[in-house]
Amino acid sequence: MNDYRPLRWTGDAFVILDQTALPHEERYLECRTVEDVATAIVDMRVRGAPAIGISAVAGLALAVREQGAGSDWRVALEHAAQRLAATRPTAVDLFHGLELARSRVTAAQTAEEAAQILARLVEELLERQWAIDRAIAEHGAGLLPLGARVLTHCNTGALGTGAYGTALGIVRRAHELGRLGHVWVTETRPRQQGARLTTWELRRVGIAHTLIVDGAAAWVMARGEVDAVLVGADRVAANGDVANKIGTLALAVAAERYRVPFYVAAPLSTFDLRTPDGRSIPIEERDKAEVLRLNGGWVAPAETPVSNPAFDVTPASLITGIVTEAGVILSPDQRKVQALLEAASGRVQ
Ligand code: MRU
Repeated sequence: MNDYRPLRWTGDAFVILDQTALPHEERYLECRTVEDVATAIVDMRVRGAPAIGISAVAGLALAVREQGAGSDWRVALEHAAQRLAATRPTAVDLFHGLELARSRVTAAQTAEEAAQILARLVEELLERQWAIDRAIAEHGAGLLPLGARVLTHCNTGALGTGAYGTALGIVRRAHELGRLGHVWVTETRPRQQGARLTTWELRRVGIAHTLIVDGAAAWVMARGEVDAVLVGADRVAANGDVANKIGTLALAVAAERYRVPFYVAAPLSTFDLRTPDGRSIPIEERDKAEVLRLNGGWVAPAETPVSNPAFDVTPASLITGIVTEAGVILSPDQRKVQALLEAASGRVQ
């Protein structure tokens, strides 16, 4: 368990640890309507692919609860699903969550019954995520050499999944096993998930780390001070290409140049066989203010033209392995991705 609860279902509210308030304040936000959840996702009060997926299901549960007796809950469910689908386009877990929730209520007769089914599903997903994250952590920790110095990007911890974390779960498990040497944490401009969130989580669990600006990552690798790069994913395409936080591709290129193994940790809910390759992954473009402003101050003239892609795509050819709860896909390609998903098909929904 963690001593903080990133996501919690109370029965009539979905409670989120507000990630925009961290690291300064541990503030919890009670979402009581689907709009509360959708806004929290857009504003990145909750973020990270698996956490967004679970939040989307909670949003649907709240939407159906909001319906009075006699109203058409199926129409409300569809409106809510559309609203949630429009929040963030890249993390496929969100869309998988919406599909799963819809499929679970196809036979429901009343709003009350549907609300109960969806509430149970939120609880089920929160619990299941623990097992998924722990399995990823176990597989991933086994890949690291003794005393591993790991570099990680963005935030892939409990905050990003609601449970133990993916890439950061591997870091935690390696630490528990006494295999971890040190963690390099990249700042992760523009939203600073590394600086604000990953450092906060590592501190909470007592793991030694050093924060660097994104531009320092290649230099740390060039100096021979990184034994593995560990990142998360927002969508894994059928051929093994991976969309993840902007800056991931640059890390993969540097890792190849300096012969550092580059691992992606992702649950099966982040795989998308309907997206053939990285070029087909929709990449979210976010507000230019995220780049122009930092901590309330301007860092460039307000009228500066800005491009702010939130994610990039790392080709499968640069990935040493993708660590999932069902095992590791080394040197991923279409055949291996398909084989793993088929073998684990009972677990993918
Ligand atoms: O924009 P964010 O902060 O939601 O992006 C998150 C990432 O890129 C993470 O690496 C990914 O979602 C995995 S979280 C376990």
